[in-house]
Amino acid sequence: MVIHHSGRELPGGDEVTRMDDTGPYRKTLLRATGIIKRFDALAALRGVDFDMPRHGIVSIIGPNGAGKTVLFNILTGISKPDAGDIWFDGKRISGLPPDRITKLGIARTFQNIRLFSNMTVLENVLVGRHSRMKQGVISSMLRSSNQLDEEETARDRVMDLLRFTGIDHLAETVATNHPTGAGRRLEIARALGSEPQLLLLDEPTAGMNPLETFAIIDLIDSIRADMGIGILLIEHDMRVVMRISDRISVLDYGVKIAEGTPEEIRNNQRVIEAYLGRGAAARREIAPEAAPESPVLETLLMTPNSATG
Ligand SMILES: Nc1ncnc2c1ncn2[C@@H]1O[C@H](COP(=O)(O)OP(=O)(O)OP(=O)(O)O)[C@@H](O)[C@H]1O
Ligand SMILES: [Mg+2]
Repeated sequence: MVIHHSGRELPGGDEVTRMDDTGPYRKTLLRATGIIKRFDALAALRGVDFDMPRHGIVSIIGPNGAGKTVLFNILTGISKPDAGDIWFDGKRISGLPPDRITKLGIARTFQNIRLFSNMTVLENVLVGRHSRMKQGVISSMLRSSNQLDEEETARDRVMDLLRFTGIDHLAETVATNHPTGAGRRLEIARALGSEPQLLLLDEPTAGMNPLETFAIIDLIDSIRADMGIGILLIEHDMRVVMRISDRISVLDYGVKIAEGTPEEIRNNQRVIEAYLGRGAAARREIAPEAAPESPVLETLLMTPNSATG
């Protein structure tokens, strides 16, 4: 049995190695070092180092195919890296299966919404809570009084989460019968059900209109503020990224090309080039009044001055 310095008992035990949790590591919730992932000839991640502070909101951006989702799959144990290490909350998690990683406190949503289609909204979130329920399959068949108590508590907790994410009125409806906005909120509610310390969101505003997008920004803000959960966000919408991130990491062709505050990233020449192409970046230097060619770039290049004036 392993007892964490917080006094909390860690699940499993022997194979959980602990990172030196003193000094600079204390503030680090997640650390990935030298992550390499190949798919045959394609190097999807080419030695990525990544750090995320406790309670932070950190965004990963980068052009299509940069390796953002592959990194999420590796952090959550869905996919195994060819090289590199991952530490979470002071424990080494690389190589652990996804359910162990969920239990240790990392939850995620998917780029393409994944819901159980034959279940209600409430049931989908109940499934998310399963990793936190003590009673096993056998006792669930016998339905002991403990089991019934736990089920009732779980339902109450799920209703709280549905209220928090703004979809409690849909609790008893079929999960897949709703528009994208509600589906994404449901995925977030389900992820929160596992009581994570870190929530990974893969393009949570994809397919949403501006109004829905701003509502999701508010939701992400309150997940951190009210629940103290750290957020790692993959997002293409630069309005979202620039507005809520403490820090941004930029991937391009499997390499982390930049890292910094929103202000630093929007002024980073390598980032602009990655989105624009080298030639176009050079053209812009020569003719800065030229109109940006993509909405992503437009927001990236929009300085606070030009936004207000
Ligand atoms: N299972 C796989 N088998 C083979 N190649 C893969 C696999 N998963 C991802 N890739 C490739 O790895 C690269 C990175 O993919 P990834 O999905 O991480 O991109 P991304 O940054 O999330 O892009 P997007 O913004 O389009 O979602 C791509 O070239 C992709 O085709
Ligand atoms: Mg992706």
